[in-house]
Parts: sequence; structure tokens; C-alpha cells
Amino acid sequence: MVARRSSQWYSGDGRNAYIHRAWMRRGLPDHVFDGRPHIAIANTASALTPCNAHLDEVARSVENGVYEAGGIPLDLPVISLGETQVRPTAMLWRNMAAMATEEMLRANPVDGVVLLGGCDKTIPALLMAAASVDLPAVVVPGGPMLTGTFRGAPLGCGTDVWKLSEEVRAGTLSGEDFLRSESSMIRSRGHCNTMGTASTMGLLAEVLGMTLPGVAGTPAPDSRLLEAAHGTGRLVVEMVEADRRPSTVLTRASFLNAIVALAALGGSTNAVVHLLAIAGRLGLDLTQEDFDRTGSDVPLLVDLLPAGRFLMDDLYRAGGLHAVLNEIRDLLDPTAVAVTGRPLVDHIDGARVHDREVIRPRAEPLLPNAGIAVLHGNLAPDGAVIKPAAASPHLLRHRGPAIVFDSIEDMRARIDEPDLEVTADSVLILRGCGPKGYPGMPEVANMPLPSKLLAQGVRDMVRICDGRMSGTAYGTVVLHVAPEAAAGGPLARVRTGDTVVLDVEKRSLFVDVPDDELDARAPSPELMRACASPERGWERLYVDTVNQADTGADLDFLTGSSGDRVDRESH
Ligand code: FES
Repeated sequence: MVARRSSQWYSGDGRNAYIHRAWMRRGLPDHVFDGRPHIAIANTASALTPCNAHLDEVARSVENGVYEAGGIPLDLPVISLGETQVRPTAMLWRNMAAMATEEMLRANPVDGVVLLGGCDKTIPALLMAAASVDLPAVVVPGGPMLTGTFRGAPLGCGTDVWKLSEEVRAGTLSGEDFLRSESSMIRSRGHCNTMGTASTMGLLAEVLGMTLPGVAGTPAPDSRLLEAAHGTGRLVVEMVEADRRPSTVLTRASFLNAIVALAALGGSTNAVVHLLAIAGRLGLDLTQEDFDRTGSDVPLLVDLLPAGRFLMDDLYRAGGLHAVLNEIRDLLDPTAVAVTGRPLVDHIDGARVHDREVIRPRAEPLLPNAGIAVLHGNLAPDGAVIKPAAASPHLLRHRGPAIVFDSIEDMRARIDEPDLEVTADSVLILRGCGPKGYPGMPEVANMPLPSKLLAQGVRDMVRICDGRMSGTAYGTVVLHVAPEAAAGGPLARVRTGDTVVLDVEKRSLFVDVPDDELDARAPSPELMRACASPERGWERLYVDTVNQADTGADLDFLTGSSGDRVDRESH
């Protein structure tokens, strides 16, 4: 039998091995310590992360699979992040969750790990951790919820909250009806059912090669999720035997495949920062520009909200991820391997589309060129991103006067003021929302439109922000502007009334102010007040060390990998 990492704790007759074994026994027999693979089940289940609350049941199925294959499953509860609950934004804690998971995997006597995530930040954090500790690892995505309905129509959670609340502001929906929709929004266990960040990252975890093939997108209440969890338990034991680690799966080829799939799926812009952060843990040469170069010519094939009409259980019914990947097979790098040890593309053989409304044929895409466009210019020297598929075509080339907000509070206080000098041509700028500024880079870039314009029938405007946008949101929104205003980026020096020029085809984002004049301006005192540095704790560490969005917004000292070695004993 191969020498196990866990045997460094448990094997031998000395005092230390005695201690490690004795405290773990609690009814466990001797053979548990005879060199069998010890498998952590890193579980983000939490009552405060409602999208992941069902993962305890999933963990039991993983456990059964691990036992069946001759391994020893061990629960490892890890930090969980409920996107809708955690303030000021779950993104502030993604790196903490990744760091804590990495350290606990390294510190404990385990040979491999199954990662259970779902809600937006949980799968990215788990993958970042797995990449840095590089123990054999496999993800079980918790899966989307079933679709609720309101007034006889399906509800896309997230997206329809924005839409219904805008209807209230536009006066086309009563406040009572809006509240009536609340109890229909979340129909079952599982994460948001649109192609938001959770759906995107669950699907991309499989495209990266990090799941049992075929599991991603399985709805959370579907019994096939538990079957796949059982199979994952068996698989991770095999991976430990084969010493198959994330560093052999997560290659540049697998990230480029994820970028291609992101475009074809119409996935969330948040995938840009998450994939960059995961790649950063592996020291891979992956840049924001790779998203544009590799993904922007990929056709959009999946007709899901927020860009389209359907929801995640429709995608699963229509053939799921494998059917989508089969449509774009020629665009995938066949050298990328999955956790099975086989090329990812081998697993999509024979996948068929069952509903051509949901998954379009390659020859009839929803958009010929989907994906993320990366913009540069004097407003975003290190780049900014826009998702053209979620934008209004007539705004992709636009010139208009800026209306600048120094904080989310400033925007909320003024956006509906009757005397706000705003027209449909104005460009709304919200700054102070980057990684350092907020802190944590919240999903506020899709700021609401002024209600007086809504009443005139305006439904989209150019909006620019150094924060992120919910994956369930839509609109002509330029986001992830880098450097952010709080880090001294030029966004800090734009003024209301300056002319902003956006040209997505040319990939440019400018403010029509001479560079020397822009450089000479001082950032506004309101912005500086809103972005004052926290004095202590995690927020202080975060603000002092967080990287900008264009490299994934990881903490600077967390990029790279430390492997799984711990040489010193605990006593
Ligand atoms: Fe958890 Fe949307 S709130 S996935």
C-alpha cells in the first residue's frame, strides 16, 4: 500500500502516534489507522447559507461512497458564506474562507478532500484552497433550486428581484404584489436558479475538470445529486491511490476551456475574478485579457436568465452542461484532463440536446460573439470588463456626460432626486466600491436607474463601477474598473459633467479630459471619507493586502501554493 500522508500522524509505536490515534478512536477500530485513505469532506453547509443548507445530506452520500471504496470519511466544516446574508459583502470573506480551508486541510491528517459548495463564493473559495494545498480534491456542486412561479410565470431568483423592484419604482407593479412574490421566489433547497455566479461556478468547476463528470447543474433536490455524491466519494479514494492532485488537473488548458464555456453558457462576470484567483494559487499564466482573446468570439448557446429566458432546471432537462460542451467541442482543448484522469472531452461523448430552445445549435446561436470584453483607457488603465450579452446593443458605443457618486450611500440618497440632472444619455459612475474601497468589492455596479427615467420608459443606461455586478443582473454595466478609485485609479478623479466615451468594439473606455488635467485633480473628500481604512481585524488585513480585480482580488500573500507538508509535531 502507498505510504499515506495521514500515516505521518497515525503510524508507529511512539507517543505522538499514540496520541493521534487515541483521541480519534471514539469507537473506530484499529484498521482505520492501517493506511487507508483518510478523506476530509470540506462542507460549507450552514443554516446561515441557505443555498448550502442541504449539503449535510450530500455529505452523507459522499461518506457512503468513501467507505465503500475503502477510505475513511471525516467531516470538516469550513467557513460558509451566504451571499444574501453576509455584510458588507460575501466577497470580503472569500479569501478568508479560502485561507482557512487551505490551512485546515494542511494542518489535519487527511489524504484527500471532497469539497461541498454551492452559494456564490463557496466553490471559488474551496477551489482556491484546494489549489494551494494540492491534495487530491474533487468538488460536489450543491446544485440549483427548482423554479418557483408567480402570477403563473417562472421566477428567476436574483434577476426577477431586480426586475420586480424596478417595476415597483416605475409604478407598473404594486408594493403588495411585490411582497406577494417573496414567498414564491425560493422554491426549494439549492442555489439561485439563474445563470448567476453560483450556477456559473458550479458548471465551471466541472469544465475545469474538478468534479465527477456529469454532476454539475444537477438540481439540488434531484436524487441524482446524491448518487453523484456517492460516486464522488468512491472517486476521491481512487484519486488518492493514483496521487491525482489539483495541479495535474488545473492547467492553463483547463482554464481556457472554462473561459470558452463561460461564454457559451452566458455565465457570470464574477467568474473572471474567481478564475483569476484560482489560477493565481497555481502560479498559472492567466490574465484578464485571456477572457477576451479566448472567449469573446464564442457563441452564446444557452438561453438562460439573466441574458435569456430559461432557468437552471430547464438547462438540466435540455441535456445539461455536457450537451453544451458537445456543441463547442472543437473549441475545447483536448489535452485538459478531469479528476478521473481522462481527458475532459472524453466525458462529453454522446451528449445530446433535448430542447433546442434552451440550448441552441451552434449554427443558430443567441449571439455570435458572447463572452467578456476587456476594456482599457484612461478610466481603466489596468482594465475593466463588460458582458455584451447582458448589455443593450445601442449602448455598446456611447458618449455621454458623467454623473458621479462617491459611495453606494451617496448614490442611494441622490439617484431619485427630482432635480438630478440626468438623461438617458448620462453615464452613471459609482466609485469607492472596489476591493479596498468598500471594502470587499460588492455587487453594486448594476445601480438602479433614476426613477424619473424609469417613468419615461428608459430601461438601461451606461453604468461604470469599480465594484462587481451580481451574476443574476443585466444591463450595460462596465465593472471591475482597475485600479479602483480607493487605490488611486483615475476613476477617483472623474467629475460630474465630464464626457465619458465607451466603445466596446474598440475595447476602450475614456474620459474626455486631458491626461495632465486628470492627473492634477485631487480625489473628492467624500470619496476619501467613504473609503477610510478600517482600523483592525480582518478588514484591515484585507484592505492592506488585497490585489486589484484584474488579477483576481486575492490577498497578495495568498497567491501561490504551499503544498501539503507540515513538518512539525503539535506536542
Ligand atoms: Fe446563494 Fe444566489 S444567494 S446562490
